[in-house]
Amino acid sequence: MIYNFDEAPDRQNTDCLKWDKRDEVFGRADVIPMWIADMDFPTPPFIIEALRERLDHEILGYSYRPDSYFDSFIKWVSSLHGWDIRREWIEFSPGVVPALNMCTLAFTSPGDEIIIQPPVYPPFFGAVNDHGRKLVFNPLVETEAGWMMDPDGLRRAITPRSRMLILSNPHNPVGRVWTRDELAGLAEICIEKGIVILSDEIHSDLLLPGMKHVPLASVSENASAVTVTCMAPSKTFNLAGLSTSSMVISDPGLMAKYRKTLIGLHMHLGNIFGNIASEAAYTHGREWLSQLMRYVEGNVNLVMDFCHERLPQIRPVRPEATYMIWLDCRAMGMSGTELNQFFVERAGVGMNEGSRFGPGGEGFMRMNLACPRATVVSALEQIENAIKNKG
Ligand SMILES: Cc1ncc(COP(=O)(O)O)c(C=O)c1O
Repeated sequence: MIYNFDEAPDRQNTDCLKWDKRDEVFGRADVIPMWIADMDFPTPPFIIEALRERLDHEILGYSYRPDSYFDSFIKWVSSLHGWDIRREWIEFSPGVVPALNMCTLAFTSPGDEIIIQPPVYPPFFGAVNDHGRKLVFNPLVETEAGWMMDPDGLRRAITPRSRMLILSNPHNPVGRVWTRDELAGLAEICIEKGIVILSDEIHSDLLLPGMKHVPLASVSENASAVTVTCMAPSKTFNLAGLSTSSMVISDPGLMAKYRKTLIGLHMHLGNIFGNIASEAAYTHGREWLSQLMRYVEGNVNLVMDFCHERLPQIRPVRPEATYMIWLDCRAMGMSGTELNQFFVERAGVGMNEGSRFGPGGEGFMRMNLACPRATVVSALEQIENAIKNKG
Protein backbone atom coordinates (compact mmCIF):
# COMPACT_ATOMS: atom_id res chain seq x y z
CA MET A 1 0.00 0.00 0.00
CA ILE A 2 1.20 3.49 -0.85
CA TYR A 3 0.50 6.04 1.88
CA ASN A 4 -0.19 9.61 0.93
CA PHE A 5 1.70 12.10 3.08
CA ASP A 6 0.91 15.03 0.80
CA GLU A 7 -2.49 15.45 2.36
CA ALA A 8 -3.20 15.95 6.03
CA PRO A 9 -6.51 16.42 7.84
CA ASP A 10 -7.40 19.79 9.28
CA ARG A 11 -6.41 19.60 12.96
CA GLN A 12 -7.94 22.88 14.03
CA ASN A 13 -10.58 22.69 16.76
CA THR A 14 -9.57 19.18 17.78
CA ASP A 15 -7.95 20.31 21.08
CA CYS A 16 -4.64 19.91 19.30
CA LEU A 17 -1.74 21.54 21.13
CA LYS A 18 0.23 22.20 17.97
CA TRP A 19 -2.58 24.01 16.11
CA ASP A 20 -5.13 25.16 18.67
CA LYS A 21 -2.68 26.74 21.14
CA ARG A 22 -0.90 28.89 18.57
CA ASP A 23 -2.37 32.11 19.89
CA GLU A 24 -1.25 31.33 23.43
CA VAL A 25 2.23 30.18 22.41
CA PHE A 26 3.06 32.61 19.62
CA GLY A 27 0.61 35.47 20.19
CA ARG A 28 -0.79 34.78 16.73
CA ALA A 29 -3.30 32.13 15.77
CA ASP A 30 -2.28 32.04 12.11
CA VAL A 31 1.38 30.98 12.20
CA ILE A 32 2.29 27.84 10.28
CA PRO A 33 2.86 25.51 13.24
CA MET A 34 6.31 23.90 12.95
CA TRP A 35 7.12 23.60 16.63
CA ILE A 36 6.15 20.77 19.04
CA ALA A 37 7.31 17.28 17.93
CA ASP A 38 4.02 15.95 16.69
CA MET A 39 3.15 15.03 13.12
CA ASP A 40 0.40 16.45 10.97
CA PHE A 41 0.12 13.08 9.22
CA PRO A 42 -2.74 10.84 10.29
CA THR A 43 -1.96 8.06 12.72
CA PRO A 44 -1.67 5.03 10.38
CA PRO A 45 -4.88 3.20 9.44
CA PHE A 46 -3.86 -0.17 10.95
CA ILE A 47 -3.66 1.55 14.36
CA ILE A 48 -6.98 3.35 13.98
CA GLU A 49 -8.59 0.04 12.93
CA ALA A 50 -7.22 -1.78 15.98
CA LEU A 51 -8.59 0.96 18.26
CA ARG A 52 -11.99 0.86 16.51
CA GLU A 53 -12.15 -2.87 16.86
CA ARG A 54 -11.53 -2.59 20.61
CA LEU A 55 -14.30 -0.03 20.92
CA ASP A 56 -16.76 -2.59 19.59
CA HIS A 57 -16.49 -4.15 23.02
CA GLU A 58 -18.11 -1.46 25.07
CA ILE A 59 -16.37 -1.98 28.43
CA LEU A 60 -13.22 0.00 29.08
CA GLY A 61 -12.24 -1.20 32.54
CA TYR A 62 -8.77 -1.79 33.99
CA SER A 63 -6.50 -3.63 31.62
CA TYR A 64 -2.93 -4.88 31.37
CA ARG A 65 -0.36 -5.43 28.66
CA PRO A 66 -0.95 -8.84 27.11
CA ASP A 67 1.78 -11.27 26.00
CA SER A 68 1.14 -10.23 22.41
CA TYR A 69 2.20 -6.66 23.25
CA PHE A 70 5.54 -7.84 24.65
CA ASP A 71 6.11 -10.12 21.66
CA SER A 72 5.45 -7.30 19.20
CA PHE A 73 7.78 -4.87 21.01
CA ILE A 74 10.58 -7.43 21.40
CA LYS A 75 10.37 -8.29 17.68
CA TRP A 76 10.31 -4.63 16.68
CA VAL A 77 13.42 -3.77 18.69
CA SER A 78 15.23 -6.85 17.41
CA SER A 79 14.38 -6.41 13.75
CA LEU A 80 14.77 -2.64 13.58
CA HIS A 81 17.71 -2.12 15.92
CA GLY A 82 19.33 -5.55 16.19
CA TRP A 83 18.92 -5.57 19.98
CA ASP A 84 17.59 -8.70 21.64
CA ILE A 85 15.71 -7.81 24.78
CA ARG A 86 13.87 -10.00 27.26
CA ARG A 87 10.37 -9.63 28.54
CA GLU A 88 11.49 -9.18 32.14
CA TRP A 89 13.52 -6.13 31.08
CA ILE A 90 10.41 -4.25 29.90
CA GLU A 91 8.24 -2.01 32.05
CA PHE A 92 5.57 0.55 31.36
CA SER A 93 5.79 4.33 31.58
CA PRO A 94 3.01 6.82 30.85
CA GLY A 95 5.35 8.70 28.49
CA VAL A 96 9.05 9.37 28.25
CA VAL A 97 9.03 12.70 30.10
CA PRO A 98 7.26 11.10 33.08
CA ALA A 99 9.90 8.35 32.85
CA LEU A 100 12.75 10.85 33.00
CA ASN A 101 11.25 12.34 36.14
CA MET A 102 10.60 8.95 37.72
CA CYS A 103 14.18 7.89 37.02
CA THR A 104 15.49 10.98 38.77
CA LEU A 105 13.42 9.98 41.80
CA ALA A 106 14.36 6.31 41.52
CA PHE A 107 18.11 6.52 40.97
CA THR A 108 19.24 9.76 42.62
CA SER A 109 18.80 11.71 45.86
CA PRO A 110 18.33 15.44 46.46
CA GLY A 111 21.60 17.28 45.91
CA ASP A 112 22.99 14.65 43.53
CA GLU A 113 24.33 15.80 40.19
CA ILE A 114 22.79 14.78 36.89
CA ILE A 115 24.61 15.50 33.63
CA ILE A 116 22.93 16.49 30.38
CA GLN A 117 24.44 17.45 27.03
CA PRO A 118 22.90 20.62 25.65
CA PRO A 119 21.58 21.89 23.36
CA VAL A 120 18.96 19.30 24.25
CA TYR A 121 15.22 18.66 24.65
CA PRO A 122 14.07 21.18 27.32
CA PRO A 123 12.20 18.77 29.67
CA PHE A 124 15.61 17.23 30.49
CA PHE A 125 16.26 20.38 32.56
CA GLY A 126 13.01 20.08 34.50
CA ALA A 127 13.55 16.38 35.18
CA VAL A 128 16.59 17.43 37.21
CA ASN A 129 15.75 20.88 38.59
CA ASP A 130 12.18 20.12 39.63
CA HIS A 131 13.36 17.47 42.08
CA GLY A 132 16.12 19.37 43.86
CA ARG A 133 18.92 17.63 41.96
CA LYS A 134 21.81 19.59 40.51
CA LEU A 135 22.01 20.08 36.76
CA VAL A 136 25.48 19.77 35.26
CA PHE A 137 26.18 20.53 31.61
CA ASN A 138 28.55 18.74 29.31
CA PRO A 139 27.68 20.68 26.14
CA LEU A 140 27.90 19.11 22.70
CA VAL A 141 30.65 20.45 20.51
CA GLU A 142 30.00 21.88 17.07
CA THR A 143 32.69 20.73 14.64
CA GLU A 144 33.25 20.76 10.87
CA ALA A 145 31.96 17.19 10.83
CA GLY A 146 28.82 18.05 12.82
CA TRP A 147 27.73 18.05 16.45
CA MET A 148 29.69 15.71 18.72
CA MET A 149 29.67 14.60 22.33
CA ASP A 150 32.65 15.71 24.40
CA PRO A 151 34.14 12.78 26.35
CA ASP A 152 36.95 14.90 27.83
CA GLY A 153 34.39 17.45 28.97
CA LEU A 154 32.39 14.62 30.52
CA ARG A 155 35.36 13.40 32.53
CA ARG A 156 35.89 16.94 33.78
CA ALA A 157 32.20 17.39 34.63
CA ILE A 158 31.99 14.27 36.79
CA THR A 159 32.35 14.74 40.55
CA PRO A 160 31.74 12.36 43.49
CA ARG A 161 28.10 13.64 43.52
CA SER A 162 27.44 12.68 39.86
CA ARG A 163 24.83 9.91 39.71
CA MET A 164 23.13 9.95 36.33
CA LEU A 165 23.55 11.17 32.75
CA ILE A 166 20.56 11.74 30.49
CA LEU A 167 21.30 11.01 26.85
CA SER A 168 19.17 11.89 23.84
CA ASN A 169 19.85 9.03 21.40
CA PRO A 170 19.27 10.02 18.58
CA HIS A 171 19.75 13.59 19.64
CA ASN A 172 16.98 16.15 19.70
CA PRO A 173 17.48 18.88 18.44
CA VAL A 174 20.74 18.42 16.49
CA GLY A 175 19.53 15.26 14.75
CA ARG A 176 22.62 13.12 15.38
CA VAL A 177 22.44 9.33 15.37
CA TRP A 178 25.26 8.49 17.77
CA THR A 179 27.63 5.86 16.41
CA ARG A 180 28.59 2.65 18.20
CA ASP A 181 32.05 4.11 18.91
CA GLU A 182 30.67 7.33 20.34
CA LEU A 183 28.27 5.39 22.55
CA ALA A 184 30.91 2.91 23.65
CA GLY A 185 33.16 5.83 24.65
CA LEU A 186 30.37 7.40 26.70
CA ALA A 187 29.47 4.09 28.32
CA GLU A 188 33.08 3.40 29.26
CA ILE A 189 33.32 6.63 31.23
CA CYS A 190 29.97 6.11 32.97
CA ILE A 191 30.76 2.50 33.86
CA GLU A 192 34.12 3.54 35.31
CA LYS A 193 32.54 6.33 37.37
CA GLY A 194 29.44 4.42 38.47
CA ILE A 195 26.98 6.66 36.65
CA VAL A 196 23.57 5.46 35.47
CA ILE A 197 22.79 6.40 31.86
CA LEU A 198 19.21 7.26 31.13
CA SER A 199 19.05 6.81 27.37
CA ASP A 200 16.03 8.53 25.86
CA GLU A 201 15.58 6.66 22.57
CA ILE A 202 12.14 7.99 21.69
CA HIS A 203 13.40 9.12 18.26
CA SER A 204 15.23 5.89 17.47
CA ASP A 205 12.70 4.60 14.93
CA LEU A 206 12.69 7.87 13.01
CA LEU A 207 15.83 7.24 11.00
CA LEU A 208 16.52 9.01 7.74
CA PRO A 209 17.21 6.47 4.97
CA GLY A 210 20.62 4.82 5.33
CA MET A 211 20.98 5.46 9.06
CA LYS A 212 21.16 2.77 11.75
CA HIS A 213 20.28 3.34 15.39
CA VAL A 214 22.47 1.75 18.04
CA PRO A 215 20.71 1.31 21.39
CA LEU A 216 23.23 2.38 24.00
CA ALA A 217 22.56 -0.71 26.10
CA SER A 218 23.40 -2.93 23.13
CA VAL A 219 27.04 -1.86 22.92
CA SER A 220 28.16 -4.25 25.69
CA GLU A 221 26.90 -6.17 28.68
CA ASN A 222 28.59 -3.69 30.99
CA ALA A 223 26.85 -0.81 29.22
CA SER A 224 23.54 -2.61 29.50
CA ALA A 225 24.05 -3.01 33.24
CA VAL A 226 24.20 0.78 33.81
CA THR A 227 21.62 1.82 31.20
CA VAL A 228 17.93 2.54 31.48
CA THR A 229 16.37 2.93 28.02
CA CYS A 230 13.17 4.77 27.12
CA MET A 231 11.40 3.76 23.91
CA ALA A 232 7.98 4.67 22.59
CA PRO A 233 5.73 4.44 19.55
CA SER A 234 4.44 7.96 20.22
CA LYS A 235 6.73 10.01 17.95
CA THR A 236 7.05 7.26 15.35
CA PHE A 237 3.33 6.75 14.79
CA ASN A 238 1.84 10.01 16.08
CA LEU A 239 0.37 8.55 19.26
CA ALA A 240 1.60 11.06 21.85
CA GLY A 241 -1.94 11.69 23.07
CA LEU A 242 -2.12 8.09 24.31
CA SER A 243 0.59 8.61 26.97
CA THR A 244 2.28 5.24 26.54
CA SER A 245 5.91 4.22 26.40
CA SER A 246 8.24 1.45 27.54
CA MET A 247 11.35 1.21 29.64
CA VAL A 248 14.01 -1.40 28.97
CA ILE A 249 16.19 -2.16 31.99
CA SER A 250 18.33 -5.29 32.09
CA ASP A 251 19.85 -4.76 35.52
CA PRO A 252 17.52 -6.26 38.17
CA GLY A 253 18.59 -3.72 40.80
CA LEU A 254 17.81 -0.73 38.58
CA MET A 255 14.56 -2.37 37.47
CA ALA A 256 13.50 -2.90 41.09
CA LYS A 257 14.13 0.78 41.88
CA TYR A 258 12.25 1.93 38.78
CA ARG A 259 9.28 -0.34 39.58
CA LYS A 260 9.15 0.84 43.18
CA THR A 261 8.81 4.44 41.98
CA LEU A 262 6.33 3.62 39.20
CA ILE A 263 4.10 1.55 41.49
CA GLY A 264 4.55 4.01 44.34
CA LEU A 265 3.05 6.70 42.12
CA HIS A 266 0.41 4.23 40.96
CA MET A 267 1.21 4.80 37.32
CA HIS A 268 1.90 1.19 36.34
CA LEU A 269 -1.44 0.17 34.91
CA GLY A 270 -1.17 2.01 31.65
CA ASN A 271 -4.09 2.67 29.40
CA ILE A 272 -6.03 0.35 27.24
CA PHE A 273 -5.77 2.39 24.04
CA GLY A 274 -2.05 2.94 24.45
CA ASN A 275 -1.46 -0.80 24.70
CA ILE A 276 -3.60 -1.63 21.69
CA ALA A 277 -2.17 1.14 19.54
CA SER A 278 1.42 0.20 20.46
CA GLU A 279 0.92 -3.44 19.58
CA ALA A 280 -0.69 -2.59 16.24
CA ALA A 281 2.14 -0.17 15.49
CA TYR A 282 4.89 -2.67 16.31
CA THR A 283 3.13 -5.46 14.45
CA HIS A 284 2.18 -3.67 11.23
CA GLY A 285 4.19 -0.46 11.18
CA ARG A 286 7.37 -1.25 9.28
CA GLU A 287 6.29 -0.36 5.74
CA TRP A 288 4.39 2.76 6.81
CA LEU A 289 7.44 3.94 8.73
CA SER A 290 9.81 3.48 5.82
CA GLN A 291 7.47 5.44 3.54
CA LEU A 292 7.13 8.13 6.21
CA MET A 293 10.88 8.56 6.52
CA ARG A 294 11.35 8.70 2.75
CA TYR A 295 8.79 11.49 2.72
CA VAL A 296 10.50 13.30 5.60
CA GLU A 297 13.79 12.97 3.70
CA GLY A 298 12.12 14.75 0.78
CA ASN A 299 11.17 17.59 3.14
CA VAL A 300 14.71 17.71 4.53
CA ASN A 301 16.15 17.89 1.00
CA LEU A 302 13.74 20.65 0.16
CA VAL A 303 14.85 22.75 3.16
CA MET A 304 18.53 22.08 2.44
CA ASP A 305 18.21 23.09 -1.23
CA PHE A 306 15.93 26.05 -0.63
CA CYS A 307 18.21 27.52 2.03
CA HIS A 308 21.29 26.91 -0.09
CA GLU A 309 19.78 28.64 -3.11
CA ARG A 310 17.51 31.27 -1.64
CA LEU A 311 18.16 31.71 2.08
CA PRO A 312 21.92 31.82 2.55
CA GLN A 313 21.43 33.46 5.99
CA ILE A 314 20.03 30.15 7.25
CA ARG A 315 22.21 27.05 7.37
CA PRO A 316 20.21 23.91 8.09
CA VAL A 317 21.96 21.04 9.82
CA ARG A 318 21.01 17.86 7.93
CA PRO A 319 19.38 15.52 10.47
CA GLU A 320 20.33 11.83 10.59
CA ALA A 321 17.14 11.06 12.50
CA THR A 322 13.93 12.73 13.73
CA TYR A 323 11.63 14.85 11.61
CA MET A 324 13.05 18.05 13.04
CA ILE A 325 15.65 20.21 11.39
CA TRP A 326 18.02 22.45 13.32
CA LEU A 327 18.42 25.76 11.54
CA ASP A 328 21.56 27.78 12.13
CA CYS A 329 20.32 31.37 11.91
CA ARG A 330 23.35 33.00 13.53
CA ALA A 331 24.19 34.84 10.29
CA MET A 332 20.96 36.78 10.73
CA GLY A 333 22.67 38.57 13.62
CA MET A 334 19.73 38.46 16.05
CA SER A 335 19.29 37.30 19.62
CA GLY A 336 17.07 34.31 20.31
CA THR A 337 14.14 36.51 21.27
CA GLU A 338 14.58 38.67 18.17
CA LEU A 339 14.79 35.62 15.93
CA ASN A 340 11.64 34.15 17.39
CA GLN A 341 9.84 37.45 17.00
CA PHE A 342 11.03 37.78 13.42
CA PHE A 343 9.85 34.32 12.39
CA VAL A 344 6.50 34.70 14.15
CA GLU A 345 5.64 38.30 13.41
CA ARG A 346 7.27 38.87 10.04
CA ALA A 347 7.24 35.39 8.49
CA GLY A 348 4.21 33.84 10.21
CA VAL A 349 6.08 30.64 11.03
CA GLY A 350 6.02 29.19 14.56
CA MET A 351 9.14 27.19 15.49
CA ASN A 352 11.05 26.36 18.67
CA GLU A 353 13.66 28.95 19.58
CA GLY A 354 17.14 27.50 20.04
CA SER A 355 18.12 28.99 23.40
CA ARG A 356 15.28 26.99 24.97
CA PHE A 357 17.48 23.94 24.39
CA GLY A 358 20.19 25.38 26.62
CA PRO A 359 23.81 26.42 26.04
CA GLY A 360 24.79 26.20 22.37
CA GLY A 361 21.23 26.71 21.16
CA GLU A 362 21.22 30.50 20.87
CA GLY A 363 20.91 31.63 17.23
CA PHE A 364 19.24 28.39 16.12
CA MET A 365 15.61 27.53 15.44
CA ARG A 366 14.10 24.03 15.36
CA MET A 367 11.68 23.39 12.54
CA ASN A 368 9.27 20.44 12.49
CA LEU A 369 9.08 18.82 9.04
CA ALA A 370 6.39 16.20 9.77
CA CYS A 371 3.88 17.92 7.54
CA PRO A 372 2.92 17.90 3.87
CA ARG A 373 5.56 19.23 1.49
CA ALA A 374 3.30 22.10 0.44
CA THR A 375 3.34 23.36 4.04
CA VAL A 376 7.14 23.34 4.07
CA VAL A 377 7.19 25.27 0.78
CA SER A 378 4.77 27.88 2.16
CA ALA A 379 6.85 28.30 5.33
CA LEU A 380 10.09 28.70 3.39
CA GLU A 381 8.53 31.20 0.99
CA GLN A 382 7.08 33.21 3.86
CA ILE A 383 10.53 33.29 5.49
CA GLU A 384 12.14 34.33 2.20
CA ASN A 385 9.66 37.18 1.77
CA ALA A 386 10.11 38.34 5.34
CA ILE A 387 13.88 38.46 4.88
CA LYS A 388 13.54 40.37 1.59
CA ASN A 389 11.16 42.88 3.16
CA LYS A 390 13.45 43.35 6.11
CA GLY A 391 15.71 45.10 3.61
C1 LIG B 1 13.93 13.55 23.33
C2 LIG B 1 12.47 13.51 23.67
N1 LIG B 1 12.06 12.81 24.75
C3 LIG B 1 10.75 12.74 25.10
C4 LIG B 1 9.78 13.40 24.36
C5 LIG B 1 8.34 13.34 24.77
O1 LIG B 1 8.01 12.14 25.34
P1 LIG B 1 6.56 11.83 25.91
O2 LIG B 1 5.56 12.54 25.07
O3 LIG B 1 6.47 10.34 25.81
O4 LIG B 1 6.55 12.29 27.33
C6 LIG B 1 10.16 14.13 23.24
C7 LIG B 1 9.16 14.87 22.46
O5 LIG B 1 9.47 15.71 21.67
C8 LIG B 1 11.53 14.18 22.89
O6 LIG B 1 11.95 14.86 21.82
